[in-house]
Order: sequence, then structure tokens, then C-alpha cells
Amino acid sequence: MELEESYELFTRLRQQMLVQLKAMDTPHSFAECIEHALSGSIKFSDCHVVQQLLEAHKPKRCLEIGSFLGFSTRWLLECGTSWNMHVTAVDPNVRHRVFDNPRWMVEGMNAPFIPDRLEIISGFFGAHGVWMDDYTRYLPHRPEEWVKALFADRVELDGSWDRTFDCIYIDADHSYASVTDGFRHALRLLEPGGMMLFHDALSWKGVNQALREFKVEFDGTARVEILDGTDVFAHPKLQSEAIKSGDGIGLFKLRKQSNAMVELAAELESSSEQEPDAHGGYRNQSPKKDDRRPPATRPVRV
Ligand SMILES: C[S@@+](CC[C@H](N)C(=O)[O-])C[C@H]1O[C@@H](n2cnc3c(N)ncnc32)[C@H](O)[C@@H]1O
Repeated sequence: MELEESYELFTRLRQQMLVQLKAMDTPHSFAECIEHALSGSIKFSDCHVVQQLLEAHKPKRCLEIGSFLGFSTRWLLECGTSWNMHVTAVDPNVRHRVFDNPRWMVEGMNAPFIPDRLEIISGFFGAHGVWMDDYTRYLPHRPEEWVKALFADRVELDGSWDRTFDCIYIDADHSYASVTDGFRHALRLLEPGGMMLFHDALSWKGVNQALREFKVEFDGTARVEILDGTDVFAHPKLQSEAIKSGDGIGLFKLRKQSNAMVELAAELESSSEQEPDAHGGYRNQSPKKDDRRPPATRPVRV
């Protein structure tokens, strides 16, 4: 897809998201919903990078960790249409920003692809805490016990899942602890030659730091880079959109070396520091709040 064509698609999908938001049952104003929906979803220059990477590698099975309202889910599906890529979208469907039931939006945004090309799972991938912030900041407020019960109701997935993927797109909790934990688990599901993509690789210091460390650790085994859609910034017609966007996409691409993968898997087994609870998950591990702050200046690329 050419750049302008892909921008048209992006604009169409944004309009669809607004129509969907308008029909949503919510105590919040339409303006507030729009603001949260747009700022919490992937922007165009990052979409463009994701599209280029997908078109170059044509993965068959993509795992998305962190779908929110399903905008990036839809983008992944649209990009992979010509080779019929399947997407498994994992998100806990708990309150994020002002949205109590983001899954309703994911289903609406992606209706044409369900069930043939999209599977939606209301669950957590990797370690997670119970986050109260959005339940105290936005109406209706909810007591802690109520929120804990909701979180406990969700599926918990990790590296022991008996599935493999040749693409894993990660846009969940951006703390350093969560990114590294999610990465270790996701690595066990990634096929040789497969790629992992990390959203917010430039704008969130936890993601950026983790990627810099992966680059050193996996030198020779994986290609690790941060990409920012430079050609979008340079395009004369897209400048105003590009100014608002560009959170950066981190790429981790495994080389096809089966021996290295076997060693890596063994290493991961022995270096796993966390003991899963009775549900096979990792409850009660709140990310450090400091990690959630975006850096004041753009971090150095890896
Ligand atoms: C930034 S939003 C995702 C935006 C979406 N990818 C887009 O661009 O349209 C982050 C989402 O990750 C979800 N999330 C947080 N921790 C998660 C975890 N451990 N597993 C799966 N999803 C998680 C949140 O509930 C939230 O909906």
C-alpha cells in the first residue's frame, strides 16, 4: 500500500471509530470519549511502520497484547488482508481511561473479521497487578474489592500457552517491569524467524530501556531496532498528522537459528524468577508508577 492510500485507510478507520463511539452506552461526554480514544490508540506514522514490517515479513498468525478499543487490531487485520493473516487479540477488558467495556468497541471496530480472522480473548498476558487509577479518577468510582473481583475473573496467559505466533504486537502496560516480563513470556511463543513489535518504543522510557537491553542481550540472535516512520514526517501532505504522532515502533526479529532458540528456551526456563500462583498467573504485582511516565525528552534509539 502506498503512503497516501494507507493514510486514507487510517482516516476512514478513525471515522468509523467515531461512529462507533457515538453509539456507545457511557456516562461520559462524546468529546471526552473522542479525546481518550484518539490519544490511547496508535497514530498514523506508527501504523505506517507496522504496515511496512508486516508487508515485508507477511506473518500468518499475529498475537496482539493490548487492544484497547481495537483500532490497532483493525490496522493489523487490514494490513494482513492480502495474505489472510489471523489475529489473536488479548486485552483484559477492564476500565482503561474512561472506557469500562473496551471489548464492545473491539468487536464493533472489527466485526467483518470475526470469527474467521480474529479471535478476541478477555485476559491478561504476563504479570499484572490490579490497577485502581482509572476506577478512582473517572466516574463511576468503584471500590477496590469490586475491581479485584473483576480482574480475577479474567483469563491469565503467559509463555506456557500452547500456541505459537510469527508476529507478536505488544502495546500493554509500558512499565519497564511489564515490558521485560511480557517479552520473556512472548519469546517462548515466538516462532524462529518471527518478529515482536513494541509500541511506544520512543515515547515511553520503560519500553525504550527494555529494547536497548534486548539489543545487547540478543546481539547475534535477533535484530533489534526502533523505527519512527521518517518518510511520514517528510511527506508534505501529512505533516500536521505526523506532528501529533510518532511514538516509535520497536522491532525484535529473531534470526532463524534453531540451536540458539533451544538454548534460549532453556535459559528462560531456568532464569524465570517469578513463581506462578495457583491460577498459573502472576497477580498482585503492580508496576512501579515512575515507569509509567513518558520521558521529558526523546530517548536515544537503540
Ligand atoms: C495503550 S492501550 C492499547 C492501544 C491499542 N493497541 C491501539 O493502539 O489501538 C493498552 C491496553 O493494554 C491493556 N493491557 C494492560 N496490561 C495488559 C496485559 N498484561 N495483557 C493484555 N493487555 C493489557 C490495557 O487494558 C489497555 O487496554
